[in-house]
Amino acid sequence: MAVIGVVAANRLVSSSFHRLDIDLGRPFTFRPGQFVMVNGAGPRALTFSRPFSILAAEGSVLSLLYRVVGRGTAELAAMAPGDAVSVLGPLGEPFPEPMAAQVTILLGGGVGLPPVHAWWRRWGRPGDVACFGARSGAEVPWDLLGDAWRVSVDDPDGLAPGRRAEVGVVTTLVPEAGELPATSPVVVLACGPLPLLRAAAALARARGWRCLVSLEEHMGCGYGVCKGCVVRVADGAGERNATCCHDGPVFDAADVCLLAPREGGSA
Ligand SMILES: Cc1cc2nc3c(=O)[nH]c(=O)nc-3n(C[C@H](O)[C@H](O)[C@H](O)COP(=O)(O)OP(=O)(O)OC[C@H]3O[C@@H](n4cnc5c(N)ncnc54)[C@H](O)[C@@H]3O)c2cc1C
Ligand code: FES
Repeated sequence: MAVIGVVAANRLVSSSFHRLDIDLGRPFTFRPGQFVMVNGAGPRALTFSRPFSILAAEGSVLSLLYRVVGRGTAELAAMAPGDAVSVLGPLGEPFPEPMAAQVTILLGGGVGLPPVHAWWRRWGRPGDVACFGARSGAEVPWDLLGDAWRVSVDDPDGLAPGRRAEVGVVTTLVPEAGELPATSPVVVLACGPLPLLRAAAALARARGWRCLVSLEEHMGCGYGVCKGCVVRVADGAGERNATCCHDGPVFDAADVCLLAPREGGSA
């Protein structure tokens, strides 16, 4: 059941990323990769809630990171401290915990940052590689990333003084296989636009690494009922439908037909 929380803070953290902190009035726990369905409360409610990955949760305060793309996110951006907001979750399958000797490569593109950032904060270890890609220098939320993240930008315009970013796609930040410990299994965790997920899946496939992706399909209910978020996944030699909200949003990239076209399967 959805909980009615109260906006604690809602502010821009870069040129186009907003951070929304919602006080739910009771402790909130989650696993990195999970998401919540968010809506206005009362007369501000839209017909459908919108899904957002969980960036963080401290005590009763849940934090999200979003970009305004349409009506629902514009409504969020207009919310002020004290406004009521409806939250359902945590929902969905999270990213897995790391194995003992695993090296993890985190790839976040744009507002695909929250699930990989949450994983890195919870499980990240020295030797893991955290990479973030933005459209422009001005879009990079440096307060969240600090110095630990490698950053790439399509366009360096607006890069904060003293900050460094590669110009190019985020996968160019990934070290060569020879730069990583030879005996450690490498796992890539990625979230972002489809081209990023495809590039991450292809890179991992080429290097024999496992790759898990968090998909951002359009959603209606968020818990497996409306079938509005179906994705095609591998099933033995064939394919089947899976719901992004209930079976995912985290999937093995090798199973997602959109990312790993299989012989005879859909592209
Ligand atoms: C599991 C999950 C986690 C997500 N996490 C975040 C997050 O942390 N931060 C964030 O900003 N966004 C996130 N999204 C995307 C977010 O849900 C959409 O941006 C939001 O629903 C758009 O609502 P709107 O009413 O503002 O836009 P709409 O009016 O519904 O759409 C505006 C435009 O955005 C496109 N769009 C809408 N939803 C999606 C989507 N899911 N994927 C790609 N394009 C879309 C539409 O096609 C349209 O072009 C997530 C989506 C999913 C499924
Ligand atoms: S959003 Fe309804 S089934 Fe996934």
